[in-house]
Amino acid sequence: MISLKTANDVELMRKAGKITAAARALAGEMVKPGVSTKAIDKAVRDFIVSQGAKPSFLNYNGYPGSACISINNQVIHGIPGGRRIQNGDIVSVDVGAYIGGFHGDCAATFIAGEVSDEVKKLIEVTRQSFFEGIKFARAGYRVGDISHAIQAYVESHGFSIVREFVGHGIGSKLHEEPEVPNYGTVGHGPRLIPGMTIAVEPMVNMGAAAVKVLSDGWTVETVDGKPSAHYENTILITKGEPEILTPLDGDGYYGK
Ligand code: MF3
Ligand code: CO
Repeated sequence: MISLKTANDVELMRKAGKITAAARALAGEMVKPGVSTKAIDKAVRDFIVSQGAKPSFLNYNGYPGSACISINNQVIHGIPGGRRIQNGDIVSVDVGAYIGGFHGDCAATFIAGEVSDEVKKLIEVTRQSFFEGIKFARAGYRVGDISHAIQAYVESHGFSIVREFVGHGIGSKLHEEPEVPNYGTVGHGPRLIPGMTIAVEPMVNMGAAAVKVLSDGWTVETVDGKPSAHYENTILITKGEPEILTPLDGDGYYGK
């Protein structure tokens, strides 16, 4: 069953979303050569707790961090640790915060130092594919319309969509129905109704789509070793434009 949020629920989700997005921005500012991923994770956890919220990911199915931090060929679910960011790395940070009974969830890929134009393009296309997708995130469309728009945009730029992991409904649980794949068919999937809240999160590979999970049970990497980018916001379906519940400030977009 897909839960529909009341006006009161939405107010609480705005609050969770704001804290979540501020944690993303804080993490993005820390993405610099020499910084360890566990230092970013600690800053994210301390910030979320300072806001009276809880890190949504910590202990979720046994996950050991408050952020997922995935570097270069790592796609998602990188476990924070002693690894230090190097010049030229791209760093995907995914965070979630729970407060007032509701979750926020968002992610972005940040650049450390100098990267190639092709890698910049990967990050930009990944981010823009989210906005292409949510053009269809409104009453009267279906989940497949969002999915198809993301896929078409990404593939038109010569990149590939990760299939094994998808976006999702979100609310009092981090993962709710429906699944929101980043590939799909126009006119297919559940109908979008005002009051639905979903996390739309394209994961885009520069090379082939194939991914594998490492023996740590979490880290997802590209099989071909090429870079991957991730971008995510929590949104509310309305009668008109979707409302982005995780504000965009500090989402890694360097073009504005
Ligand atoms: N943000 C991820 C998602 O959208 C969740 C991370 S999994 C966790 O599904 F275990 F780290 F929480
Ligand atoms: Co998510």
